[in-house]
Order: sequence, then structure tokens, then C-alpha cells
Amino acid sequence: MNILKRRSWELAEREATPEHVFMNRRQILAGLAGSGVLLGSGLGTRPAYAEEDPSAGLYPVPRNEAYKLDRELTGEEIASKYNNFYEFGSHKQIWPAAQKLAIRPWTVTLDGMIDNPQTIGIDDLLAKMQLEERLYRHRCVEAWSMSVPWSGFPLADLVRLAGPKTGVKYLRFETFHDPSVASGQKQSWYPWPYIEGLTLEEATNELAFIATGVYGKPLPRQFGAPIRLATPWKYGFKSIKSIVKITFTDQRPVSFWEEIQPQEYGFWANVNPKVPHRRWPQSSEALLGTNERRDTLLFNGYAEQVASLYKDMEGEALYM
Ligand code: MTE
Repeated sequence: MNILKRRSWELAEREATPEHVFMNRRQILAGLAGSGVLLGSGLGTRPAYAEEDPSAGLYPVPRNEAYKLDRELTGEEIASKYNNFYEFGSHKQIWPAAQKLAIRPWTVTLDGMIDNPQTIGIDDLLAKMQLEERLYRHRCVEAWSMSVPWSGFPLADLVRLAGPKTGVKYLRFETFHDPSVASGQKQSWYPWPYIEGLTLEEATNELAFIATGVYGKPLPRQFGAPIRLATPWKYGFKSIKSIVKITFTDQRPVSFWEEIQPQEYGFWANVNPKVPHRRWPQSSEALLGTNERRDTLLFNGYAEQVASLYKDMEGEALYM
């Protein structure tokens, strides 16, 4: 994905270390504290894991059985130590650096062409929403995939809360911007903050999900705490993390990666095995934490839910 200086999404990294060889959390934290990493960065006093999140009592939430997988869930230890979150580094092991992110207080602003503009605290938002768990596939453009049990609520519920006015066509999502916390944001060649966009129809599709938890707990910071997007029929870069603002607009947003390299990262970014990326053929994918490769499915296997969104767009490449 990093197309400027480094190429961190190299396939060599796709085989994550098997779960059993990871140290357990206590060993890792003890090791970091001993080495001064935690204390040196002021993390010694900060909760490092989601269990200490103030919303922890809300989880686990009931599973919505409508969303089934055709494969095993990816192990929690694997999924939580193999993340893309460029704010904290352009490699996969950003989870220690991400613990610096303060997730309270946290507000989300809803603005633009809506009836109910507001800035709402994350805990007030959580109290308004009916939380559920969904098992979703998660496919990176780098041709690896995971299967993740997200907790959260349909994005359509948030759209309803905002009350879009006639004429709204798009939602523009924005991540926090604080280079003092996220050292990646000191890299001026990136167009911070991270931005993503969906059409209103995509945002109100039943699959579009706002994740506030994972593996039966609040989102750990490396997953994009306290609130992120999950659009499983699109490549993972659309699933923006740590959202602070959603703007309802009639203008198509230019996303972070599209702004950097529009020939490689388009607005639609629908998973499509027939449209190769310049560096990664998309016909098959590596299932993270296993030795398995599978053929990639159009819309990541979610055609039944989303194909109708794109029925009149034959002229436009689904990937782009
Ligand atoms: N959101 C922000 N704010 N910053 C990022 O760097 N990376 C994206 C997406 N959301 C990213 C982001 C990419 S490239 C992917 S593949 C997914 O997050 C990774 O999600 P995961 O770490 O939960 O697997």
C-alpha cells in the first residue's frame, strides 16, 4: 500500500507468525515495561488493552447469525498483531505504538447536509445504538485476508441519526489528526488525516457496519478504537479507523490512498478477482495465520447483498 518510499504491504509479511509462538500479553507487556518502552512513552499509566476500556461492560453482544463465514475465524492474537494503521507506522506491528492513542474523551461529529448536525461522545453514541456481533471476511488489497468477529451497529443506523437532506450523495469519513500521538502523521508526504468515502446507497446497505468492538470486547487501539468502519465487500483500505467526523455531502470525497496514487487506489475499491492491482494479482488470497490460499470471490463473496448497488455501472471498473 505504501507506494512512496517503502513497500510495507509486501507478500513476504503475509504469513503471520502462528498464534502459539506469540508471547502472551503479560509477557509482552512485562517485556516492554522492563525495556522502558512503556514507561519511556508514558504508556505505563495507560490501559494497553481493550479490557480496560470504559465500554467493556457492553460486550460481548448478541451475534447476528445472518452473517456466516465459509472459513475459520482468524485467531485474536494474529489479527491484533498484524494491522495497517499508518498513523502509527508503515509496517504491520504497530500495535505497541497504537497504545498511545487516548480513546476517551472521544467524540464523533456528524455534519454537512443533514437535519441533525451534532458532536456526540462515543459512550452516548454507544448507548443509543443496538449492538450486535457479525462475522465478516476482511480482504486487504495486498492479497491477504482475515475473518473477524466485529461488534457494533449498522452504519444505516448512524445515517438515520444524522438525517440526510435531499441531495446527499456521499459520506466522507475522517480519522483523528494528532502527530504528537501518531508519529506517522509527522510524515508530511502523506495527505493526513486519513479520509475515506462511500455513496449514501453503500452506507445504507445492510452490510456497511460501524465496528466498536471485536472478539467480544471493545476495539483495541490497533484495530481503530473506539469506532471504525467495516465494509467487507471492499478492500480493507476503505475501512477507515478511529473516526472523528462523518460529513454528508453531494461531492465525491477523495480518499487518502486515492489522493496519493489514483491509478492504484480508486473510490470504489470493490473486491474483484478479475482486476489486478499493479503489484498484487487479486485472483487469490492468503488466509492469514494458515497455509491456505483461496480463490478470491467478486465482492469478497458478498455479491448477494451488494451487486445491485453497481448494476448500472458496467462502464466503470469495479476495482477503481
Ligand atoms: N484507517 C486509518 N485511519 N489509517 C490506516 O492506515 N489502513 C487501512 C484500514 N483503515 C488504515 C485505516 C487498511 S490499508 C487496512 S487493510 C485496514 O484498515 C486494516 O485493518 P486491520 O488492521 O483491522 O486489519
